[in-house]
Amino acid sequence: MSTASAAPSPQAVTLREMRWWDIEPVLGLEAELFPEDAWSAGMFWSELAHARGPAATRRYLVAEEPGGALVGYGGLAAAGGTGDIQTIGVLPGHRGTGLGSRLLSALLRAATDFECGEVLLEVRVDNAPAQRLYERFGFVPVGLRRGYYQPAGVDALVMRLADPATYAAHPGTLPETPLPHTHQGSNWHG
Ligand SMILES: CC(C)(COP(=O)(O)OP(=O)(O)OC[C@H]1O[C@@H](n2cnc3c(N)ncnc32)[C@H](O)[C@@H]1OP(=O)(O)O)[C@@H](O)C(=O)NCCC(=O)NCCS
Repeated sequence: MSTASAAPSPQAVTLREMRWWDIEPVLGLEAELFPEDAWSAGMFWSELAHARGPAATRRYLVAEEPGGALVGYGGLAAAGGTGDIQTIGVLPGHRGTGLGSRLLSALLRAATDFECGEVLLEVRVDNAPAQRLYERFGFVPVGLRRGYYQPAGVDALVMRLADPATYAAHPGTLPETPLPHTHQGSNWHG
């Protein structure tokens, strides 16, 4: 039997609802993942204010290691039957393990819970890994927003998934524990 310590397996990282006490550590991840246009604490507070109760329109998740460290997060907003992936990110050391797919699966389940018939998102035109992730889930490009990402002035590709329930067909989807059941001055990251 080996005594060497190993990084936690991807399955050991659990997804759970983001709560207000997660905002501070998530801001640390945010600064690392989106240095050019990181969200403020106020933006997360505002989003989480709509994430609970019978009139909830948001679902935000964090990916947590067994020791409690957060290594990823994501959020979805729902309005008028349309879901929007607001943000999704995974720390570099945890990428390529399926965590981004798990987060996206959970957000698409949330879209289904919110009875969304479609899900939209914006992604930088130069962000190939994220575009591959979305394409694997059936998102297709439907438009371009010129200069969407400021201050860099990078264009956003708008992608759409016609039926979020189709996420269930994704082979990398892992079951998650069911979770309980817009925009101010910066770009959405999802
Ligand atoms: C986009 C992002 C969230 C993807 O997260 P991730 O955890 O790496 O996603 P996954 O692990 O599910 O998939 C990434 C790749 O790993 C592969 N992979 C997943 N599980 C794997 C496994 N067990 N073994 C080997 N490869 C695996 C996937 O097939 C995928 O390959 P591809 O890029 O060639 O298609 C991540 O790159 C990120 O946080 N980027 C910075 C923030 C960002 O750009 N967010 C999006 C804003 S729109």
